[in-house]
Amino acid sequence: MSATSGLPIEVEDLTKAFGRGSRATAAVRGLSFRVNPGRITGFLGPNGSGKTTTLRCLLGLVTPTSGAARFAGMRYQDLPEPTRQVGAALETAGFHPGRTARNHLATMARAAGLTPERIDAVLSEVDLTDAADRRVGTYSLGMKQRLSLAGALLGDPGVLVLDEPANGLDPEGMAWLRALLRQRAANGATVLVSSHVLAEVQQTADDVVIIAQGSLVHAGPIAELAVPAGTQRVRLRSPQAQDLARQLQAAFPSVVIDPSDDIATVQVTGISAEMVGEQAHRAGIVLHELTPLGGDLESVYLELTAQGEQS
Ligand SMILES: Nc1ncnc2c1ncn2[C@@H]1O[C@H](COP(=O)(O)OP(=O)(O)OP(=O)(O)O)[C@@H](O)[C@H]1O
Ligand SMILES: [Mg+2]
Repeated sequence: MSATSGLPIEVEDLTKAFGRGSRATAAVRGLSFRVNPGRITGFLGPNGSGKTTTLRCLLGLVTPTSGAARFAGMRYQDLPEPTRQVGAALETAGFHPGRTARNHLATMARAAGLTPERIDAVLSEVDLTDAADRRVGTYSLGMKQRLSLAGALLGDPGVLVLDEPANGLDPEGMAWLRALLRQRAANGATVLVSSHVLAEVQQTADDVVIIAQGSLVHAGPIAELAVPAGTQRVRLRSPQAQDLARQLQAAFPSVVIDPSDDIATVQVTGISAEMVGEQAHRAGIVLHELTPLGGDLESVYLELTAQGEQS
């Protein structure tokens, strides 16, 4: 595990256009954001919004049209030890199907000037030890994702840049990936993980950077993504739960009441816990539980990215 903490990632007014002249289209437009060490940052946006292009600029694989994407002020290609400082997994398509996983990692290690000692360690870290000597062509999508991640971990880097690492992972694989990223971040690593599905990063990310059509629509702690009115959910338990549910429905016609198996418990969607509590107080109804269950973050994300598309 890296003793040194990761470098911050700084994207500054980054623009990348493909094509020339009147045919040029900007995949990334004036994008700025910062990714801090010791935290997991979810890089979110719909298909085609410019996530992979941004990451390719960051890793020196394409040249920005203008602006910059750097690590603590340095371009990837100017880092003193890029393969030990930054680990990246951009796509799973690049494996030679005839090679074994061990072979693939050995080739990567040689190309990156890394010693082969880490190979067994990373194979074990991604749980591929038993399949290490099988040809990659026989791997499932999830196994290929694990192998990409193994490649990213090879230099034991302080920065991880992962493009859609959860694609193809089953729920157990997702939980495993979350734990791995969490541990890395806890050790001071900078972790940037892209996804087009908010739900995928919702449980993992500390911060989110959301883009649409190549431009920033939101950046900040995930906890600060405001839940839209009308989507908050509240669970209440009361000896008069059914009575209270009827009153809430009458007072707030748009709320949705979901009954449960337990007659004393109902779930209310569309108003805050405070509003439920106040209604109970007005009616003189005793509450045994009043729990805000959060809101529908996915709809916040859809709204934010839809706004980006209109502009
Ligand atoms: N090499 C290229 N030449 C021309 N256009 C490109 C090139 N690479 C990307 N684009 C275009 O740039 C836009 C952004 O693509 P990009 O792959 O960065 O999106 P993304 O957010 O990673 O999408 P996804 O969620 O589907 O992976 C798309 O319209 C794409 O067609
Ligand atoms: Mg992509």
